Amino acid sequence: PARLAVFGHPVAHSLSPRIHAAFAAQTGIAIAYEAIDAAPDVFADALAAFAAAGGTGANVTLPLKELAHGLASTRSARAERAGAVNTLVRRGDAWHGDNTDGAGLVRDLTERHGLDLRGRRSLLVGAGGAARGVAPALLEAGISELYVVNRTASRTDALADALGEPGRVHPRYLEQLEELGEFELIVNATSAGRGGAMLSLPRSLVGVRTAAVDLSYGEASVPFLAWARAHGCRDAIDGLGMLVEQAAESFALWHGVRPETQAVFEALQSQSA
Ligand code: ATR
Repeated sequence: PARLAVFGHPVAHSLSPRIHAAFAAQTGIAIAYEAIDAAPDVFADALAAFAAAGGTGANVTLPLKELAHGLASTRSARAERAGAVNTLVRRGDAWHGDNTDGAGLVRDLTERHGLDLRGRRSLLVGAGGAARGVAPALLEAGISELYVVNRTASRTDALADALGEPGRVHPRYLEQLEELGEFELIVNATSAGRGGAMLSLPRSLVGVRTAAVDLSYGEASVPFLAWARAHGCRDAIDGLGMLVEQAAESFALWHGVRPETQAVFEALQSQSA
């Protein structure tokens, strides 16, 4: 079987082993996929040991995606633009880095949830690794403008600069949220919900067809999605679909076959409900 793993810290609760096992069963491709906990300071060594043991592909999750970017010898254009890698593919003696998060998010929103992203005035809350991973794909999917706010303003500016589209990408201060008007897409890419915290977001952000999307799922997505429902957002979508879609994209990179995702998504959803 192909030897694969997800690296993270913590990683015990990762759904990736189950998702990839389901894809493997569906496609008849033999894989051995494990979860490997690696703190940032030992990640490089753990990845090298995995390669030495025959590892040919890996997913990378929090908080290791930026480190994985540095450990990849070559990178896809989208990984380069994101500054973060969530998928590693062994090529000869080296790792090739890619990032399937943005494509996974866009596929989930457009195909599973039927949202047309084109022309949407959009707000990205957060400017960390998760935000960097998805912002390029949102721009490519045809949103009109992307406003970016973050608790730490310097990261907002850094993300806007990295995206390199000053006409469409607008860094703003959190304190300015009241002045920004309505958005048709609001993406929460902060990790605030993981601590049960909620940023204070004004009702004035919400219009008649606002879709609110949290990149987290489960408990971590509850505060933001509760805010979205209470303030009349038309859609309130968590990150479970994105998780399954980014996994399918990674599976395709490793095996050359794109699995069906809907049954896997529904199984996970019913277990978490
Ligand atoms: P990730 O990979 O999840 O993006 P990260 O790079 O550490 O992890 O980024 C976490 C994001 O959540 C950042 O945008 C962070 O804001 P700062 O850049 O100011 O740290 C944001 N965040 C985390 N906890 C938050 C909180 N309690 N309130 C507001 N923003 C928060």
